[in-house]
Amino acid sequence: MVGLRSSEWYGGVDNSPHRVYLRAIGFDDADFAKPLVAVAASWSEAGPCNINSLNLASAVKEGVREAGGVALTVPTIVVNDGINMGTDGMRYSLISRDLIADTIEAQVASHGFDAMVGIGGCDKTQPGIIMAMVRLDMPSVYLYHGTAEHGVLDGRKITVQEAFEAVGSYRRGRIGIDTLRLVEKLAMPTAGTCQGLFTANTMAILSEALGLAPLGSSTPPATSSLRLAEARKAGALAVKALEDGLTPRRIVTWDSLYNAAVTLAATSGSTNGILHLLAIAREAGVKFSLEDIEEATRGVPVIAALKPAGPYTMVDLHEAGGAPLILRRLLEAGFLRGEALTIEGEEIGVLLKKWDPKPRLPGVVFEVDNPYKKTPGFRILRGSLAPRGAVMKIGAAEKTRFRGHAKVFDSEREAFDAVAEGRVGEGEVVVIRYMGPKGAPGMPEMLKVTAAIVGAGLGASVALVTDGRFSGATRGIMVGHVSPEAYVGGPIALVQDGDEILIDGERGILDLQVEAEELEDRREKWARPERGVGGLLAKYRRLVSQADEGAVTTGEM
Ligand code: FES
Repeated sequence: MVGLRSSEWYGGVDNSPHRVYLRAIGFDDADFAKPLVAVAASWSEAGPCNINSLNLASAVKEGVREAGGVALTVPTIVVNDGINMGTDGMRYSLISRDLIADTIEAQVASHGFDAMVGIGGCDKTQPGIIMAMVRLDMPSVYLYHGTAEHGVLDGRKITVQEAFEAVGSYRRGRIGIDTLRLVEKLAMPTAGTCQGLFTANTMAILSEALGLAPLGSSTPPATSSLRLAEARKAGALAVKALEDGLTPRRIVTWDSLYNAAVTLAATSGSTNGILHLLAIAREAGVKFSLEDIEEATRGVPVIAALKPAGPYTMVDLHEAGGAPLILRRLLEAGFLRGEALTIEGEEIGVLLKKWDPKPRLPGVVFEVDNPYKKTPGFRILRGSLAPRGAVMKIGAAEKTRFRGHAKVFDSEREAFDAVAEGRVGEGEVVVIRYMGPKGAPGMPEMLKVTAAIVGAGLGASVALVTDGRFSGATRGIMVGHVSPEAYVGGPIALVQDGDEILIDGERGILDLQVEAEELEDRREKWARPERGVGGLLAKYRRLVSQADEGAVTTGEM
């Protein structure tokens, strides 16, 4: 192929030494004339979410070969959110998103690749890979690792969500140790990603809505042979995208980000999706803000009954027709921008009209005019407690309005112990602060505490407000991403035990009901608690932006 970037690295007399290195790994003369495709695969044995990525990478390479290219795998890291939940390690979760983007940039930009296939599994690998794709703007296809299968206990589908909630139930004496152990053994029977519409599966569905993943590719389970077929297809598509000059910034536009935000609201997906869409937009150079997400999602109903908002899992969604069924229903109802281009070279509206999902499982995906829930899965809140915004996941909340008195914690562990030991009661708002992008640093997820609240039977009577994040498995009356965060002096730093807090998910309000003069007085006395960190955490703290800007480390647009 003429004009290949790889020829600048491996073509001509002067680059003879570079060819030595690829000959050493098996390249011959013919290979140097072919497009060179990077398979950027997040891979680690330290958890189930990306463990099969190298097998998928082999299938991608076959697809590239069949399409006339040659491919090399360049693995990237994984930080497993489920395993580090509630520990100090959780601080590395969001940090790893930007680190993954950086490691892919460094490997792909420095080895003369022409195109890329990214394989992601766990929560942060996916947005990290997509951020690298739009940053490098090299023809790129996104491929998902695939969900784990759900377990079954007493006729009920169970997932990691039930495993986290079981701890709260056990600590409050609502279940015995035998049941806890049974949940632990049955919750995740196969490798793959966490099974409900938690962050990983949310981002997988959004990769289809964004147009970077082939339609229908996100829902086949990790154990399905369809995954290998999708992988070969992704390899071939990357070569085709290169031939057609189809780059990620032609695909990830204001319209496709709008479509992804609509899909996030219509599925009641993880609130992390908001943070990641903002970050992807900044990397793509698209001015797409929290206000744009509000506009896109206004009036969008929830049409998928997926955990934690409903009873079904990603495996069920696959049987029910996959993400394309959701997207098609949203398109037909006028919620999607059908003209957005996809990696398949056609507009998403055109592709969806041709899609024939053949659902085998009813009750998972609803009609737009007879939805699962009438309101969007989340709501952006603003008010005196969050002048730059906060996020409430109303799709998985028992109540959308709550007024209560603050119980303030400056660490997640203290909050968890208080809930588990019965020191938090009905009518209270648990406030966990200094958990923001700079404060923690790394904006950890609060699933251990939120699951403990639900497990204790307080899901409808206790709320939680934090400048940290939530896992996609979180449910209850939960408000996160409070901006500005406490560490930079946001109003959440001024809350005291007993203050009244109003959460109104219907009107989009988060108010600290304390007189302005009193707050001024508290502000004068406030001093940022010193929480020294070193290494990567210190570097991240210096660079990262606030949650309403996507908590990115790449600076101003
Ligand atoms: Fe990796 Fe849930 S911990 S997908």
